[in-house]
Amino acid sequence: MQRVLTTAALLAAALPAWANQPANPTEMTEAARAMAGQMIRQLGGELQKQLAAGGPEAAISVCKDKAPAIAGELSRTSGWRVTRVSLKVRNPLLGSPDEWEQGALKILERRLAAGEKPETLEFAQIVDEPNGKVFRYMRGLVTAPLCLSCHGAPESIPDAVKARLTTEYPHDKATGYGAGMLRGGVSIKRPL
Ligand code: HEC
Repeated sequence: MQRVLTTAALLAAALPAWANQPANPTEMTEAARAMAGQMIRQLGGELQKQLAAGGPEAAISVCKDKAPAIAGELSRTSGWRVTRVSLKVRNPLLGSPDEWEQGALKILERRLAAGEKPETLEFAQIVDEPNGKVFRYMRGLVTAPLCLSCHGAPESIPDAVKARLTTEYPHDKATGYGAGMLRGGVSIKRPL
């Protein structure tokens, strides 16, 4: 038994933080934080790269294809549901928040307005749902200047990007942001 445990512990150490299925709220929050952090780092890096290489038009695919792909990959490998949501969505199909997510985003918005740093904007809770208890986690996504060529005021969005957004997202509500505002969040959910 001891040996099995040791092997399991070794395996767990080699795997990402969420792969050993933590059971208590603190560990689950840490695992969720690691997942959201990975997603934010990967996306930020890709965005910077594409913006530098081909400008905002070329970078659209990062927020459009890469973000759902990274979230999907994290969901598949962890068994937890990872998505990006917002109170003002560009893509209603993927980005619309449920009731808990709306509440969490509003809480984070208030905390940001009260002066909290973007890096610590997270909210976790264990919630009773009709199908049982679930762990829920929201990590805030705050706009940086590089987000504004696609999410800023009309005058900061290049015409070519505006044209694509109008065609591809006729119901786009995700413009008009300044830097340092809550654009949305990475939402993570795990049935218990
Ligand atoms: C080059 C254009 C571009 C840039 C730059 C950009 N986005 Fe986006 N963003 C998009 C597009 C397009 C979508 C719609 C994605 C989809 O189809 O699901 C989107 C969707 C989102 C969503 C999902 C919710 C929704 O509204 O549908 C979030 C959250 C988001 N972006 C945050 C950010 C943040 C934060 C930054 C800066 C770090 C950023 N974006 C930079 C184009 C961009």
